[in-house]
Amino acid sequence: MIKKNILVINGPNLNLLGLREKNIYGVETLENIMDRIREEAGKIGFEVSFYQSNHEGGIIDSIHEARGKFDGIIINPGAYTHYSIAIRDAIKAVEIPTVEVHLSNVHAREEFRTKSVIAPVCMGQISGFGGGSYIAALYALREKFKNE
Ligand code: DQA
Repeated sequence: MIKKNILVINGPNLNLLGLREKNIYGVETLENIMDRIREEAGKIGFEVSFYQSNHEGGIIDSIHEARGKFDGIIINPGAYTHYSIAIRDAIKAVEIPTVEVHLSNVHAREEFRTKSVIAPVCMGQISGFGGGSYIAALYALREKFKNE
């Protein structure tokens, strides 16, 4: 299998994982989750890079800069999921296979979280498995690249 470079993007407030609404998001910190992703990625020949920002423009820039450098993107857009047409357009523009992830099951929470403006431009959405959502997304990308 050819080695693939994957960019993992985390949006606003995800830097506070482990402190924030633990009953919903769990006790794992973003650092812990990144370690798990890195370890699992290594097992399937993926090289992972990480970016976290609380700013929409930073996230958009990171998506633009991924062109020509990354084969896949895993993104947890945080609350931007529900209304950032700008992030949606950036993902659409760069044409890099992208998986949307959420720690919580956004479909089992408030009505406003059930709508994602990002998911329609992604391969799919994985939601509700805590840090495991990111691990599942790695395998979703591996499935995509399996014949390369
Ligand atoms: C989240 C779900 C969003 O609705 C929320 O705004 C977040 C986290 C999740 O991972 O479950 O910040 O993306």
